[in-house]
Formats: sequence, structure tokens, C-alpha cells
Amino acid sequence: MSVIIAPSILAADFGNLQRDCKLVNNSKADWFHLDIMDGVFVPNISYGIPVISAIKKTATKTLDVHLMIVDPDRYIETFKNVGADILTVHYEACTHLHRTIQSIKANGMKAGVALNPHTSVSLLSDLLLDLDLVLIMSVNPGFGGQSFIENTYQKIKDLKKMREESGADFIIEIDGGVNSTNAPKLIESGADALVAGSFVFKSENPTKTIEDLKNC
Ligand code: DX5
Ligand code: ZN
Repeated sequence: MSVIIAPSILAADFGNLQRDCKLVNNSKADWFHLDIMDGVFVPNISYGIPVISAIKKTATKTLDVHLMIVDPDRYIETFKNVGADILTVHYEACTHLHRTIQSIKANGMKAGVALNPHTSVSLLSDLLLDLDLVLIMSVNPGFGGQSFIENTYQKIKDLKKMREESGADFIIEIDGGVNSTNAPKLIESGADALVAGSFVFKSENPTKTIEDLKNC
């Protein structure tokens, strides 16, 4: 199966949001990646529910929502109602992560856990069978346009091994600093899904850039 490409709308032109959503619809992209930041868990505020509603009206593909917020349990139902298909919470933001994951699934969404660069994949060992997706952050969350952290390759390999040994069946997604130079090695290491923000939307021809990533 070819790699899943999820352009991050954080890097889109918010003044032309509908145009950029249509661009993703008409491209080889598989998902829309939506970054929700609360200014507490990460030192940045992105956008919230009304903007996701607007995106949902135009988007024809899976909404992959990445919550960088504290206490995400408070908003699980809200994100379901606004149209999220995949809801990913941060390991570092959840005291009762198992409960949070069950609650996301009970609300009819796929459940993901994101790991900051300093968080070891081994910490997920007791949760592997419950997960639909693991998002490995390859930059510190909070901003687009940062440089890729090289240690990510090893984390992917380790997580893939854990998945094989446990018989679990989750998607391994990589987020941060992804480009056409590191994408082949990420895929070779075991990545199933790649998020790309700046590399797509700051390029001259985002449609072509998405296609190039898809063909990596
Ligand atoms: C960072 C976000 C990423 C970001 C990626 O906190 O989770 O999804 O939008 O942007 P680039 O691809 O520019 O690193
Ligand atoms: Zn993200």
C-alpha cells in the first residue's frame, strides 16, 4: 500500500481556506491534517471549532485531527460533532490515556496517540492493541516549518517492531519537517502516513508536491 499523505492545513493560506481545501480535495492527498493548539500544552494557538466547521463543509477526505491541548477529554464529543474522523491526543497531555482512547472510540472516531520527541515509544506497550494510530512528532509540537529531528527513524523502527510482536494494527504517522528528502527514509523505516505542512503549501505547486510525496 502506498504511503498516506496528510497535508497540514496549518500551513495553508487562511485567507483562501476554501481554495486550499479544494486543492487538497483535487490532489493525490489522502487526509486533511488539522492541528489544534491551545496556547497551554504548546506555546502557540492555532484555530478552533468554527474553522474546522468551515473546512468540513468543503473537505471531501478524512479529517485527521491532532489535538495539542491539555485535558482533551473535555472536547471529544465536540470534535466528533464537527466532523473529525481520526482524533489524536498527546501522551503527555493525558493522565488517564486508556480512558481517553476508549472514549474517542465510543464516540465513533479512530483513536490516535501522539508522542513528543522526548517520549519513548516503549511507553505505549500496554496500549498498543487499543490504538488505531500512533503519531510520532519529528519536531517539537507548536509550530510549522521546523527542522526534522533525525532520531525519528529509530523510533519508527522500534514502534514497528512492537507492532509486529504484539499483533497490533495501528497506522504509524510522522509529523513535522517532512519533505521529499526525508520521506523515502521515513517510509523505509516503517512510516504509513506522512504529515506535511510547509513543504506542501509553501511550494510553487502544492498539487505536484503532494503527488511527489505520494510517489516517494
Ligand atoms: C506541529 C504540527 C504539524 C505541523 C507540520 O506542531 O503538529 O502538523 O503543521 O508542519 P511542517 O510540515 O511545516 O513541519
Ligand atoms: Zn500535527
